[in-house]
Amino acid sequence: MPTPKHLAIIMDGNGRWAKARGRGRFYGHIRGARVARKIIEECARLKISYLTLFAFSTENWLRPPEEVQFLMTLLRHRLRRERKTLMENNIRVHCIGDLQRLPQDLQREIKSCIQETDKNTGLNLIFALSYGGRQEITQAVRDLCQRVKNGELEPSDIDEARLQTQLDSSFAPDPDLIIRTSGEMRLSNFYLWQAAYSEIFVTHKNWPEFTAEDLRESLQYFAQRERRFGRTGEQVAQVIT
Ligand code: IPE
Ligand code: IPE
Ligand code: MG
Repeated sequence: MPTPKHLAIIMDGNGRWAKARGRGRFYGHIRGARVARKIIEECARLKISYLTLFAFSTENWLRPPEEVQFLMTLLRHRLRRERKTLMENNIRVHCIGDLQRLPQDLQREIKSCIQETDKNTGLNLIFALSYGGRQEITQAVRDLCQRVKNGELEPSDIDEARLQTQLDSSFAPDPDLIIRTSGEMRLSNFYLWQAAYSEIFVTHKNWPEFTAEDLRESLQYFAQRERRFGRTGEQVAQVIT
């Protein structure tokens, strides 16, 4: 069964899940973090090479300051608490996004987590934090313009491959499958460049109720897709046989 080399998840619906149970949004985030841990372990077990978790978007800075602060603290605590699990599961941590905007203590925690896990050879776990696809592309274009201005590059040197190398996520292949929970059919500024040919699986379940079984269902869905990349079905069948 073909499995995605790179799986990316838009973990959405924490607030609505909590509200439906008469609880505050923060409770939803706490339960969501627990689910993230389970799914990370499951992906390591399934030998998936790359897993991106969209945890906080550029636009999420617009939320009430108390919620932003709570999320930052929760992230820091979880990163510290899960260090052992990450090592035991041979998981290597990466982060993409505008990390400078994060609180200093969280930045330090991320840095030390990346350093401690950087010899691990199993799952590459990418946290998208303060991440926006448009911002990532804009930054890449700005870097390329600077290199042209410095005389290191000609405008004609700039092609898709060159732009890709300037992206934060350039070390990872494009995501083969993007899962979004909570039923929303949108990307919300996630992996805009990278998602060009991603398969998309949307489930109505909110993130805190997403299970390993739901993950398996999404992988089965993926396995049934015919990925044509613009070609015809006949051409694709020919390549396989
Ligand atoms: C996802 O859940 C977590 C983050 C975006 C940080 P939400 O907080 O967006 O929950 P809903 O979508 O409001 O239910
Ligand atoms: C997307 O969820 C961002 C993350 C899951 C981190 P949002 O809740 O921010 O998305 P919108 O606002 O509903 O599009
Ligand atoms: Mg949401």
